[in-house]
Amino acid sequence: MYEKEVSEIERQLQKQNRWREKCINLIASENVLSRRARSLAGSDFAHRYAEGHPGKRYYRGTTYIDKIENQLKINLKILFQCDHAEVRPISGTNANEAVFSRFVSPGDVVMVNSTPTGGHISHHKEGSLGKFTRNIIDIPVTKDGYHMDVEKTIYLIEKAKPKIIVLGKSLFLFPEPVAELSEVCQANHVRILYDAAHVLGLIAVKQFQRPLKEGAFLMTASTHKTFFGSQRGLILSNMEEKYWRKIDRGAFPGSSSNHHLDTLTQMAVCTYEMMEFGDQYAEDTIKNAQALASELDRHGFDVQAKEFGFTQSHQVALNVKEFRGGEGVSRTLELNDIIVNMNMLPHEPLGNHDHPEGIRIGVQEMTRFGMREDEMFRIAELIKECIIDKKVVKEGVNRLRSEYQTVRYSYDSIEKKIETDSIKKTEKN
Ligand SMILES: Cc1ncc(COP(=O)(O)O)c(C=O)c1O
Repeated sequence: MYEKEVSEIERQLQKQNRWREKCINLIASENVLSRRARSLAGSDFAHRYAEGHPGKRYYRGTTYIDKIENQLKINLKILFQCDHAEVRPISGTNANEAVFSRFVSPGDVVMVNSTPTGGHISHHKEGSLGKFTRNIIDIPVTKDGYHMDVEKTIYLIEKAKPKIIVLGKSLFLFPEPVAELSEVCQANHVRILYDAAHVLGLIAVKQFQRPLKEGAFLMTASTHKTFFGSQRGLILSNMEEKYWRKIDRGAFPGSSSNHHLDTLTQMAVCTYEMMEFGDQYAEDTIKNAQALASELDRHGFDVQAKEFGFTQSHQVALNVKEFRGGEGVSRTLELNDIIVNMNMLPHEPLGNHDHPEGIRIGVQEMTRFGMREDEMFRIAELIKECIIDKKVVKEGVNRLRSEYQTVRYSYDSIEKKIETDSIKKTEKN
C-alpha cells in the first residue's frame, strides 16, 4: 500500500546524494566518512544490542563487537593519552548528559560559555544541563568576545564556587585557558569539563590544546566534526576509578541503552584513520581556515577576531549584518550550493538567535576532500562574488567541487590497491 511512499523516500535520498556532491559544504560541525568507513553501515551489527561492557554484556551474541569495542577503547586511550575512554554515548549531547546526570545536582552552580560567545545548547537551561540545575552562570569574556576574561572568571569561581565549569564551544576559534584555571579550580573543588566536540580531531594530534594534560577533569566530545566520524559521542578522562564508575553508570543506563553498533564499527575505523593521517589533516585544516579568513578579509568582509589572526581552529566567523545578516546570507549562499549556518556572534543579545548577524564557516570537510590554500582563495572569491557583487556563482561552485570528490586522509586508495592485487592474482590463477 505504501510502496510509492517508500520509493519517494529513496528518491529524496538520491537527490540529496547528488546535490551534496556538487556543494561546497562549510558547516563547521560536519564531516564526511571515508569510503571504507561508510561501507560498514548497515552490517548485521546495525540490528544488534550489546548493553554492558565487552566480556560482561547483558546480551549474548556479542563476541565480535566485544573485540572491536575493546580495541577502539585501547586506541583512544593511546591517542588521547588518558586512562579512561567511554565510547557508548551515541552523540556529543548524550555524552554531556551522562556527565551532568552524575555530577550535577539541583541547585548546583555551573559556569558555562553563553550561547552568543559560542556555548552549546546542551550546556544551557533549555538543553541537557537545564534538566539537572537551573543555576547556570556565564563565563566572562574579553572585549573581543572570543576569549575568556581569565581574571574575572577566577574572581567568579572564588565567589560563586561552581561545581563544574564547562569549557569548549560551538563557535570555537581559539584554545580555552584550561591551564590558567587549573590551580584555582583545584583549590575551590571546581571540576573542569572540556567539551571538545568541535576540536576533537585537532586535539587528537596535539594541534589545538591538550585539555586533560592542562587540568580538565573530563573531556566530552562528538566524533564527527574535526574527528573523522562516525556520528557518535565520547567521554575521556584521567580521573580516579571511583569517579569513573559514576560516568560508566551515566553512560549506561543513565543516558543510553543500545549504543548503535554499526556506527561503533565505523568509529573504530575512523580512529585508525586519525592515528595515521590526523597530523597532516589537522595541520592542513588549520592552515586552510586561516587562508580562507584572511582572503575573505581582503575581499572586504568583517572577519571576526582579526587582531588575533582570525582563528586557530577549523572555523571562521563573519559578521554579515550589512548583507542582510546571517539568515539572508546563508540562504543566498545555499541557492549557490555553498552551505553554511547562521550564527550569533558574541556581542549579540540572546533574542537574536533566529536572525543573528553572523555566519560560521568550517573548512574541515573540504580539507578532507583534498582542498588546500589555493582552493580556499577560490572559495573566498566565490563568496565575495555571490554576496558582495550579487552574482550567481553556482556553476563555479559546482565546477570547483567536481574536482574534489575523493575522501583523503584515509585508507580508501589502499583498499583499491588490495582489490587490484587480488584481481591480478585471480587472473593469473
Ligand atoms: C560544543 C558542542 N558540544 C556538543 C555538541 C553536540 O553534539 P551532538 O550533535 O553530537 O549531540 C555540539 C554540536 O555541534 C557542540 O558544538
